[in-house]
Formats: sequence, C-alpha cells, structure tokens
Amino acid sequence: MCGIVGYIGVKEKRNFLLSGLKELEYRGYDSAGIAVLKNGEIDSFKATGKLSHLDAKTKNYSSSGFGIGIGHTRWATHGKPTEINAHPHWGKFSYVIHNGIIENYKEIKEDLLKDGVEFLSQTDTEVIVHLFEKFIRNGETAFSAFEKTVSSLQGAYAILLISLKEPDVIFFAKNAVPLVIGKSTDNEIFFSSSDAPLIGWVKEVMYLEDGQYGWAQNHSITLLKNTTSQSLKMQPLTLDKISAQKDGYRFFMEKEIYEQSLVVGETLMGRIKGNSVVLDELSHINFDNINAIKICACGTSYHAALTASYLFERLAKVRCNVEIASEFRYKTPLLDTTTLFVVISQSGETADTLEALKMAKNRGMTTLAICNVDNSSIVRTADFTLLTRAGIEKGVASTKAFATQVITLWLFTLFMGEQKKTIPSELMTEEIEALLRIPLALHVDEAIHEKLHRLSKRYLHGHGFFFIGRDIFYPLALEGALKLKEISYLHAEGYPAGEMKHGPIALADSELFTIALMPKTLLYDKMKSNVEELSARDSTLLVISPETFELADDFIKTKAHIHPMGEFFEMMLITQLLALEISIRLGNDVDMPRNLAKSVTVE
Ligand code: M6R
Repeated sequence: MCGIVGYIGVKEKRNFLLSGLKELEYRGYDSAGIAVLKNGEIDSFKATGKLSHLDAKTKNYSSSGFGIGIGHTRWATHGKPTEINAHPHWGKFSYVIHNGIIENYKEIKEDLLKDGVEFLSQTDTEVIVHLFEKFIRNGETAFSAFEKTVSSLQGAYAILLISLKEPDVIFFAKNAVPLVIGKSTDNEIFFSSSDAPLIGWVKEVMYLEDGQYGWAQNHSITLLKNTTSQSLKMQPLTLDKISAQKDGYRFFMEKEIYEQSLVVGETLMGRIKGNSVVLDELSHINFDNINAIKICACGTSYHAALTASYLFERLAKVRCNVEIASEFRYKTPLLDTTTLFVVISQSGETADTLEALKMAKNRGMTTLAICNVDNSSIVRTADFTLLTRAGIEKGVASTKAFATQVITLWLFTLFMGEQKKTIPSELMTEEIEALLRIPLALHVDEAIHEKLHRLSKRYLHGHGFFFIGRDIFYPLALEGALKLKEISYLHAEGYPAGEMKHGPIALADSELFTIALMPKTLLYDKMKSNVEELSARDSTLLVISPETFELADDFIKTKAHIHPMGEFFEMMLITQLLALEISIRLGNDVDMPRNLAKSVTVE
C-alpha cells in the first residue's frame, strides 16, 4: 500500500525522501514521486515502477540548504499506475501526497469542475490540492484553507501538502491511516507513514491520532483536532529497522494476522454505497450474458474460491464451480462463453493459475482476476481485475491475503446478485450490514491469543490433526489445516465433518487431534453429532464455538454472531493464531517455512 515521507530542514532533501521511501517499499507500490520547495520554487519528480527509476531521474538533483520536501509511493486504487496518477498532485501553487481513499471525491470533483478547475489525473487525491487552492482563492489564509479542506474530506487519509503561499510549512492530516511525526535534535521535522524510515534520523516521534491535523514549520508543530489545539505527545523511538517493519510483532505472519481488521477495511473502502455494492472495475461486464462462474486457483486462494462457491449459489443464485488450477489445465475442460472465468491469486504470478487464465482467454471466455498485486502477470492478462488491497504480505503462510480475498468475493457475489436481480433487497441489507461488521470481528482478542499460546504446548505431537467443518466452514477447515502444516510441519487435514464416518474416523484415537469448527449460525446440530461421533472414538477434541461443548478436551469460546460470515472470520483468526503458536513452540521459521516460496512461478 502507499507510503508517505516528509522533511523540513537544511539537509539534502532527496536523501531522506528516497531512503525513507525505500524503507516503505515492502508495503508494495507501483509508482513514486517527490516534491521539494526551496527558495520559492517547487521541483517535482515522478516515475512509475521501482524506486530505482525515481532514483535515476533525480540523480543530478540537489537541494541542500533550508527547504521542505514530501515523497510518496503509490499503490493504485483510483486510476491506473501511470506517471500522471503518481503523487505528488499539484494545483497552481501547491502539491499534495495522500495515502488512503477519499470517499466523497466524486462530489468534490464535480463542484470543482463547475468552477472550471482542470484535473490531470484519475485519482481521488487530486481533489485535495484543488479544494485547498479554491479556499485560498476565496480569501482564506493557507492555514484556514487547509483546515476547511480537511473538514470537507470523508474517508481515510494521511495527507502532506506544501504550498508556495507558505513556503516553510508542511500541512498534515491523519484519519484511519497511519502518520508519524519525528523531531531531530537539530530541530528538523520528519513525517512518515510508519516509524521505520525515521530510525537513525530522529530520537522521538509522535503517532498521530485519527482526526488530528496541523502544520509544521522550522522548529514548531501546530497540532489540532476539531479546530482545538492539541498537545504533542512525543515518545522515544528505540526500534531497530527490522523490528520496526514488524511493528513489535515477533513475526511478519503475526503482524499480518493482527492487521486483518484494518486491511479488510481497505478492501471494503469505497465499495459499499447505501444498500449497494459498487465495483466500478466491473462496469463493462454484461452480466446478462453470464450464467455461471468457474473459479481456478491454488492453495489458500483455492480455499477462498471454495468459500465463495457457497456464497455465489446461495446469495446470487449463480452456478459456481471451483477447480485447482493445476488440475483444470490438463483435464480437457468443457468451457463456454456464458461462464465467467475467475482466477484468484495473492501474488498474481502463480504459474498454474496464470496458464489456466490464458486457456480460458483463448477459448473466448470473459476473465476476471481477484488479486493483491496490481500489474502482476495475472492482472495484466485478465480482462477485468478486482484488487484485494491487503498490502504486501511477507509471511509465506497467507493470512490477510486470504481474508481480503474472501471479502472481495463476498462483495462480488452481492454485486452480481444485484446485477442479475437475484438478490432481494432485504437480504442485501442484511449482507451489507454483516460485511461492515467484519473489521470488528477481526480484532484479535488478546485473551484468546493468550489461551491459544497456553494450549499450543499440548498440540506438538500426535499422529495428525483433522480440522472439520460444514458448509463454508469446510473450506475454512481446509485453510486451517494448510496453515498448520505449512509452518509446523505436522500432518493436518481439512475435512467436511459429515464425511469423517466414511473412512477417516478409522484413524480416531487419543493421539488424533480434531479441531472442530462449530458455529452457532449454521448447521450447529449436524456438526454436534459429527463431533460426538469422534469423541466416542476417543479423539482429542479442540472445539471452537460460541456454545459450550461438554465433550471438548479443550475449548475456545467465540463471540455470538448473527451472521455465519462473522463466525467464519473469528474462527479463521483462531486457526491462524493456533498454527502460529504451535510453530513458534516448535522453533520453526514462521515467516519462511522450509521448502515453500511466496510466489510459485513454476508449475
Ligand atoms: O499467490 P497465490 O495466491 O496464487 O498462491 C497460491 C498458493 O501458492 C498459496 O496460497 C500458498 O498455498 C500459500 N503458501 C498459503 O499459505
């Protein structure tokens, strides 16, 4: 996702701006840019692709002596990853960079267009700088213009803005997207979207709170919230670089598990308007010509697909069939052009998925990629793309990529149901309400994490794990088992609970660990009978449920939910944390498990 840096001081601006952006590179981006204001002039540079392109473009640029600078890496949300859409965006005398999404940008843009403002980019960000300049044209000072601009914005933002009207000042604002201010002992002021770029430059930082905004000048920072002045709460910055990237978590996987609540908010952002799902990316698909969906994927992405197949048929009333990409490619499949061909991939580079996509395209099918990496091979090949917006995932074992895939697929199901008029409006309301509750369901309950840590010592041996569930909890069981085997190297299988008696129950004894996903909102009694059958055969049971289950050897109590997907996501968190804690106890490399790669580009 996007990164932000800013600097006020006498040092070479380019050095901090580029090195800071380099530290944020791991978040993923597709273009970058900087702007420096010095001696009453602003110089700006932008480049698509890697930071090395921006580095090369600015090779001969120098800006020592007092001045101010801002820098940005962009991960496209509105508009393609072109140089024009890269930040900074400018008006007549001001430049802005922004992380997040301005939800009401269309309304603001319409007003500005009526005033004759010309827009260069397709981004939501550009409205900020034009709105700021409009307030100045109307007689406001730069300070009040910035205050008015911020109060007009809805959505998520971390903003840095510079203007020739106040050439020593960086204006800043933060809401729902991180922004950190640092101060050096030489009175330089730094900004960044995380503390990693500030290490080595400052000794103290302040992590801004939502709704705070203000302006920084040489030596001084003015901080406000709702026009009321706020005190600066600086704190020491003691981190080393790698732990800063991990934000204090032991492993990237752990950080990514904790991040899910936030990133799922990004996935949803701008995609729900009232009682409707808005997916502008798909506005050119004619759904009248689509009668069915086929999804191809591998690994965790396959599990997301399988989850979605229940949603497509149940909610959108569209036939949905899911295949593992490496199987699909060689089975001489029957394909027709009234089926929408969907591929799901975190990396966008998985060889089997990419080849399956090419096969479908060659057969004239309409193709859609659900992917986390813009500009990846899969995105470039597909006719249409929905980005999952998870941000870069560093742990090889996929967590937040899976959560955002399922959310994107759920959104797509509702969108399709609306397009095909197969989803009643009351159901749509319930689904949207449920979707909006997911970020909350994904907050990690520290007490549950602690309990999983304690329980994990009992699950380090045995002759195998069976994760069992029914309906959408069956693909979740598959995913829970995959997580465990990837990072613990213990044998684990996911199974539909009703199938255990058709063979696998022969394995049941006290050394067989059954992880039972027992939601209350879906098939609870059926599931209960299946678990009782295993208990009767002495299998050791770890039950995850909101309902106390007296036969459980270990029990994790989940919250009460009114929608199965709420239970789904809470149980997903628990299975991820269980795998993490077992792996840590076994002393394994959680982030880079043996034999695995993050991007599987061979078939
Ligand atoms: O990048 P993709 O989503 O296409 O990758 C597919 C699988 O290789 C991937 O999901 C793999 O199973 C992960 N290691 C799961 O944690």
